[in-house]
Amino acid sequence: MSPSRRNLRISVIGTGYLGLTHAVCMASLGHDVLAIDTDAEKISKAARGEAPFFEPDLEPLLRKNLESGRLRFTSSFAEIGEFGDVHFLCVGTPQAPGGSADLSYVHAATGALAPHLTRETLIVGKSTVPVGTARQLLASARAAAPAGDLVDVAWNPEFLREGYAVQDSLTPDRIVLGVTSEQADRTLREVYATPLASGIPALTMALETAELVKVAANSFLATKISFINVMAEMCEATGADVIQLADAIGLDERIGRKFLSPGLGFGGGCLPKDIRAFRSTAAEQGVGSLVDLLTTVDTVNQGRRDRVLTLARQAVGGELDGKRIAVLGAACKPNSDDIRDSPSLAISGTLARQGAVVSVHDPVAMPNASRVHPDLRYADSVHEAAENADLVLHLTEWADYRSIDPAVLAEIVAVPVLIDARCTLDAAAWRSAGWSVYVPGRPQPEAGD
Ligand SMILES: NC(=O)c1ccc[n+]([C@@H]2O[C@H](COP(=O)([O-])OP(=O)(O)OC[C@H]3O[C@@H](n4cnc5c(N)ncnc54)[C@H](O)[C@@H]3O)[C@@H](O)[C@H]2O)c1
Repeated sequence: MSPSRRNLRISVIGTGYLGLTHAVCMASLGHDVLAIDTDAEKISKAARGEAPFFEPDLEPLLRKNLESGRLRFTSSFAEIGEFGDVHFLCVGTPQAPGGSADLSYVHAATGALAPHLTRETLIVGKSTVPVGTARQLLASARAAAPAGDLVDVAWNPEFLREGYAVQDSLTPDRIVLGVTSEQADRTLREVYATPLASGIPALTMALETAELVKVAANSFLATKISFINVMAEMCEATGADVIQLADAIGLDERIGRKFLSPGLGFGGGCLPKDIRAFRSTAAEQGVGSLVDLLTTVDTVNQGRRDRVLTLARQAVGGELDGKRIAVLGAACKPNSDDIRDSPSLAISGTLARQGAVVSVHDPVAMPNASRVHPDLRYADSVHEAAENADLVLHLTEWADYRSIDPAVLAEIVAVPVLIDARCTLDAAAWRSAGWSVYVPGRPQPEAGD
């Protein structure tokens, strides 16, 4: 039976990278949406049609839905409770000291909402949480809500990628529905009636399975990245080429080429903290083999940053003090201004602390980066960053950097040495323009090649 296309009254709690995108996309699907955040500045910006962060395609859609009246913002939980048939929980679950997930925002948001729930309602978690959280929230929300057992909780984890968030939200690969009742399943299928009608699969399962699907997916992706980085180390040790290796194994349909990107490893607001939180849960549950696996994945990943630091030190002759280093990219990934656990900024910060003069360029993330790392210099252009540089480090693979003219840049730097830690620049073209290029996991050309 195909789901009905009733427009629902949907609230979205938390308007960060996930929540604002979800609110905008829910409104684009035709629902009436009211969104809330405890950060008053974020709310007032969004209500003016300005996304508080960089995400391609988001702002025009935000404005369109504000103009149509389908999307509104508030700072009142009473208004949210009164308004919504379905409440999406999109608050942060950052890493707590020790590596577990900090659930204080999830509990605070549910605690603020529940006293205003006076009728049948569905709270739907989208945040990434440890298994068991949804069932705890179900108990606490029912205890605090005037509607009591008429309140239900479902878990509908989000898989969007920053940089492609709108596309991923409107046309996800799959929709995961963790529920405790048929009614919750029916309601969620109404919420997603449009994507379901277009053939996107929805999988209904228990709350616990849905919570685990998200962290399992992220753990698999992290493992794939660390796997190819271990292969990069092996290639370096043996003179083999990790890109050719990735291309060859990636053509095997059982493996696939995506996420076989060797170089600097993963950062950002999700993969690192999600695998650490999952490791904490695995330790609590006594699943030692999962603890071991995720510890190795994390250690390999962190080791990539150390490797680039070692290469940088070697490239400038062993002594960083006073050396001028140009860093291309500050965001944790391209097409985003997210700098959470950015490998680039971690490396830049260490280089600066060890005496290097680091000049960073990024197409969009410099305002965020300069707030967190005022110790670094920021340049408005690649050329400005590279002026008199002793070394250029390519640390975030923005497409813009692939069109840099290496011959022009060679005239600007003091010494034409490049470390392409993301393995995405055309090393042959840079070498032809007179650069010494080091790409982790790829063979260095013999002298005279
Ligand atoms: N960013 C992604 O790409 C992504 C993808 C999939 C899943 N997730 C998960 O989604 C969740 C949110 O991630 P994010 O990147 O959007 O984080 P974020 O920090 O950008 O946004 C969280 C928002 O929640 C708000 N908030 C905190 N407490 C609140 C409360 N009590 N009431 C209302 N608002 C409150 C914060 O002010 C902030 O704006 C996390 O669990 C994350 O792991 C994120």
